[in-house]
Amino acid sequence: MDESTAEQWAVIGVETAQNQGRVAERVLGMLRSLSEITDGFATDQLTHCLQTATRAERDGADDEVVVASLCHDIGKAISVPGHPQIAAAILKPYVRPEVHSMILVHQDFQGAHYYHHFGGDPNAREKHRDTLTDEEWKLAEQFADDWDQKAFDPDYDTLPLEHFEDRVRKVFGAAQIVPPKDD
Ligand SMILES: [Fe+2]
Repeated sequence: MDESTAEQWAVIGVETAQNQGRVAERVLGMLRSLSEITDGFATDQLTHCLQTATRAERDGADDEVVVASLCHDIGKAISVPGHPQIAAAILKPYVRPEVHSMILVHQDFQGAHYYHHFGGDPNAREKHRDTLTDEEWKLAEQFADDWDQKAFDPDYDTLPLEHFEDRVRKVFGAAQIVPPKDD
């Protein structure tokens, strides 16, 4: 890199921007792979993600929130431990801050609905009380309580991945050729 030139970086910048479309296709591929993961739940993880996004859409959520809801457990394609952080990192360059935090803290918020079954702290969400804004808190609460924790119903009218694909391509389609300032 010490020997690189502005001309070379101009080429890299243009090609990186031209290839931005692959991001959405990789995300869609990861989502499809979640159909292979059930781990004892009543639905496979793709159905769970689709149902979470369907519930968000039916409650009037905007495109960023619906796509983030769809992708919230995408980290499980790699690892269940740490999955909120994986999904949040993938989404961070493409969504506004409260949508990123909604995904980052989702397991702690979700804990109110099941941690008591194995000795966890059902109030785990409270550790985020001082770091989230009121707006971030409300969205994280709505996500966990109204959409995520309810989205394991095999009889629910869940919309298919095709229904969301255009919005996935739109949200992940913005080229990110400037390094983020806060990482
Ligand atoms: Fe979930």
